[in-house]
Amino acid sequence: PTGLLADALGRPLHDLRISVTDRCNFRCVYCMPKEVFDKDYAYLPHASLLSFEEITRIATLFVAHGVEKLRLTGGEPLLRKNLERLVGMLSALRTPGGRALDITLTTNGSLLAKKAQSLKDAGLSRVTVSLDSLDDATFKRMNDVDFAVADVLAGIDAAHAVGLGPVKINMVVKAGMNDQEIVPMARHFKGSPYILRFIEYMDVGASNGWNLAEVIPSADVARRISAEMPLLPLQANYNGETASRWRYADGGGEIGLISSVTQAFCKDCSRARLSTEGKLYTCLFASRGHDLRALLRDGRSDAEISGAIGALWNVRADRYSETRTINTSGIDEHREKRVEMSYIGG
Ligand code: GTP
Ligand code: 5AD
Ligand code: SF4
Ligand code: SF4
Repeated sequence: PTGLLADALGRPLHDLRISVTDRCNFRCVYCMPKEVFDKDYAYLPHASLLSFEEITRIATLFVAHGVEKLRLTGGEPLLRKNLERLVGMLSALRTPGGRALDITLTTNGSLLAKKAQSLKDAGLSRVTVSLDSLDDATFKRMNDVDFAVADVLAGIDAAHAVGLGPVKINMVVKAGMNDQEIVPMARHFKGSPYILRFIEYMDVGASNGWNLAEVIPSADVARRISAEMPLLPLQANYNGETASRWRYADGGGEIGLISSVTQAFCKDCSRARLSTEGKLYTCLFASRGHDLRALLRDGRSDAEISGAIGALWNVRADRYSETRTINTSGIDEHREKRVEMSYIGG
């Protein structure tokens, strides 16, 4: 497509993921372990957060460059005050061709029952909810804040009821923690309006103590499910989709497998990430971002900022998951420098 951006590996820019807060009310063991994210953890001060106006200005420039999907993440995005106002501002944007954007949100679901209707009214397209288990004891061990499964399920149902669907459900699988829940989760959501996706536990960030032995390869997930509920492959919805799609042979709907460890999907990765404080990251595993907030607060023009974004995308050559080097301990040497997922956004 002429006129649109391509990076150094020929990949277009389609998807902007915007982190609106680095805080979360959960302490998932694979994301914000309590030992690191304790009461002394230094979260970003309010003044360093991008304002809704600043986020919208940057998003507008990305949309002019070809972005068609915006995803709000965090941390837990629903902790950001008046998020509906931001959703309203973003949903007014149009592609150069005049189409509305796909505006989506990744949430832990804890505040969703309360906020689903106002998010829908503000123009949100759909939501993705994280849920790692249907068993309370297991779920509480993973979220580490004693949050109950039923409250997340209520949030999912509320989102569906107000039309924020198809709701996707993300389950991070950690061996020895919740892998016994793979089949029960599949069984529970089979035949429902929800699309369950199994995510391989990733070595993202520097604090989750990732270990290859704790990853259950997606091929195993598929094998365990299909032993009871046979699966057939489906075509991807779009180039560079994170999940490989499968449907139940008996017509019970579809699931997704997100295999960033065993089958990296960098080849078509068209995702850019904007951190809570306005740094642009061209890969989830990057150790440094590019400060767009400095440009905004320096009084630069749209043309200048847009040019900077284009130049950064043009030189992008990231493909971390494909080149991940793992030594015998399963920890790579650069990991201390990597940004946390709660900061950059999932
Ligand atoms: P859809 O628009 O519904 O297809 O969403 P999505 O799959 O793009 O977004 P979602 O936030 O649901 O992503 C699911 C999970 O995939 C994330 O929580 C991450 O674990 C993983 N993921 C998403 N994007 C990337 C990426 O660019 N690289 C890697 N390695 N993992 C990613
Ligand atoms: N590996 C895989 N997925 C992760 N997420 C957070 N940390 C990890 C990790 N280490 C996922 C969450 C949620 C989204 C925000 O990112 O489960 O779906
Ligand atoms: Fe919070 Fe989501 Fe990270 Fe869990 S995975 S700690 S819910 S941001
Ligand atoms: Fe994209 Fe980096 Fe993830 Fe690869 S590892 S899919 S380049 S974000």
